[in-house]
Amino acid sequence: MSELEARARAAQQRAYAPYSKFRVGCALVMSGQIFEGVNVENASYPLSVCAERNAIAAGVIAGAMDLETVVVFTDASPPSSPCGGCRQVLLEFAADPGKVQVIAINGKGERRTWTLAQLIPDGFSGRELPRPQPPSGDDQDDG
Ligand code: THU
Repeated sequence: MSELEARARAAQQRAYAPYSKFRVGCALVMSGQIFEGVNVENASYPLSVCAERNAIAAGVIAGAMDLETVVVFTDASPPSSPCGGCRQVLLEFAADPGKVQVIAINGKGERRTWTLAQLIPDGFSGRELPRPQPPSGDDQDDG
């Protein structure tokens, strides 16, 4: 097991999942550094946040922006892949989704691997959006 995989496994122990009981640990590499995340659920169920999104947030807080590798550790067999929403959030930080490895593992030693491009083909990357325009003088609100 790689260091990244061991970090995802250790993180899973710290998941807060009293409602679903489905504990998820994520460890990912952004800009050469490892960040961890766990799922954090809430009594108001839709407010729960997935492990992958919390790991991405940890990277962004630290100033890392370039996603390289993702490991997701669950008790599922076969190993559980990132949800659709998390795939979209991962895509946001992938310079080349074809080069980002996503690895799902469990405690039985089972593993599934994909590239992010395989998990979210033809995804909405944001490059479709119009380029932000500098504010024109008219728009300035100077009181
Ligand atoms: N969950 C994740 O953390 N990552 C995923 O990719 C799939 C789902 C969490 C959300 C919720 O806390 C629990 O797993 C059950 O859906």
